[in-house]
Amino acid sequence: MRRPIIAGNWKMHKGPDETIAFLDELLPRVSNIEDREVVIAPPFVSLITAARRLRGSRVKLSAQNCHWENRGAFTGEVSPSMLLEAGCTYVIIGHSERRQLFGETNQSVNRRVLGALAAGLIPILCIGENLEERKAKHTLAVVERQLRKSLEDVEADDAETLVVAYEPVWAIGTGISASAEQAQEVHFFIRQFFEKQYNKTLANSIKILYGGSVKEDNVDELMAQPDIDGTLVGGASLKAAEFERIVRFMEPNAS
Ligand code: 13P
Repeated sequence: MRRPIIAGNWKMHKGPDETIAFLDELLPRVSNIEDREVVIAPPFVSLITAARRLRGSRVKLSAQNCHWENRGAFTGEVSPSMLLEAGCTYVIIGHSERRQLFGETNQSVNRRVLGALAAGLIPILCIGENLEERKAKHTLAVVERQLRKSLEDVEADDAETLVVAYEPVWAIGTGISASAEQAQEVHFFIRQFFEKQYNKTLANSIKILYGGSVKEDNVDELMAQPDIDGTLVGGASLKAAEFERIVRFMEPNAS
């Protein structure tokens, strides 16, 4: 059984004060939830504040990026070991906004994945095609290439701890989610990739999240798909009530 993960990627929202206010509202709402993991990914400057507030709660902390080295002359970067020390369990790597706006490549993503794993963080590796690639029916080829290159030199022992997030670029922040069928097709393909590249046990245990315009009204249908193990939520993770509803996908009493 793969325990679902619902992760909120706050992007460049919420400094320390807003982080505290948000957690004061969210934590009582989700404190009794055990059958799914709740993760928040605030900006770097809010991580320590969040970690302190999360003490004693089951909600886990993620960063939104990391460098591959643990220390050195890399102005503006934050290292995996620093994130671990700050209280992070996860780190998002290769988000499409980093690839599109900040020059991330599959090669730099690969280095970050290796660095995060070596430090003991769980990478949430983001992949996904853009609209042109989907229209040209290149989705699966793009996803396979991103996976192959991002996972170069990642051994099975490490790969089994990893989380993958399939985020079609055309669905991010547009209000147009992939349909459940479209997402399931790609998630199934990703699982098959892990079976071919590693082994069946690993493929069965690896968690594959969907991201891209996940909302209260589409999360149930997405999460009903056999190969969708959770969601990476942007805009809808910024309000506690909305995020709680997403966390409570498919619960009989969820409104
Ligand atoms: P939205 O949920 O705002 O579309 O963002 C998705 C995302 O990029 C999560 O990482």
